[in-house]
Amino acid sequence: MIIYAHRGASKHAPENTMPAFDLAYKHEADGIETDVQLTKDGVAVLIHDEKLQRTTNGYGFVKDYTYDELIQLDAGSWKSPKFTNTVIPTLEDLLRWNQDKQLKLNIELKNNVIAYSGLEKTVYQLLQKYSMVKQTVISSFNHDSIAKLKQWSNELDYAFLTSKRDRNLVPFAQSIHAAGIHIQNRLLSNRLVAEAQQHNLYVAVYTVNLPLSIKRAIRMKCHAMFTDIPKLAVDLRKNT
Ligand code: G3P
Ligand code: CA
Repeated sequence: MIIYAHRGASKHAPENTMPAFDLAYKHEADGIETDVQLTKDGVAVLIHDEKLQRTTNGYGFVKDYTYDELIQLDAGSWKSPKFTNTVIPTLEDLLRWNQDKQLKLNIELKNNVIAYSGLEKTVYQLLQKYSMVKQTVISSFNHDSIAKLKQWSNELDYAFLTSKRDRNLVPFAQSIHAAGIHIQNRLLSNRLVAEAQQHNLYVAVYTVNLPLSIKRAIRMKCHAMFTDIPKLAVDLRKNT
């Protein structure tokens, strides 16, 4: 069971920031899950929402700002004053940080609302630059987008994200050559895990923060989970 810190250790630090990634590492998460969008000048930045207002002191769309404009914003104090002046990181900041840690990565392309042109290629080229293709799985709710990744690499794993109940998840995953299926926790069932395993696909669940749900995912032999509280999941994994 791989434990990914969802947006970093986002229960206790501002999501998708370096302090949240540092805390995830300290709490022994196996990997980091993060969300990528593109700035107006094509820089891959880590932020969940298409708009800035929930997690920064800015407003409007990420895509309408250059990188130099975005790093002026405070992406930490909404969580706690102790994180004031934390900035929005780039994907490159995360990859550089990971060079001496070598955590697993799940990079979610946030292109299901805004179809960022070139996002897939930008992310793939950065992973190549830092030699982190093999430890990374790319995911997206935009299934056309992840299916494109096959053309650049056979060694890059990708998975599709879904929050919808659908009996055809496994055949669909096979049809786009996905490595796995990332489902909302409420969709987890023994039937789905068994069907996926039969077809050499893995199942991962998001976002799992309650002890009972974490234990259930472990017992059901999910391949991976995404949690805002990696310390809790790591502790439960030792005892389940
Ligand atoms: O990748 C799992 C999960 O992060 C997908 O949902 O909205 O948290 O990005 P969201
Ligand atoms: Ca995500």
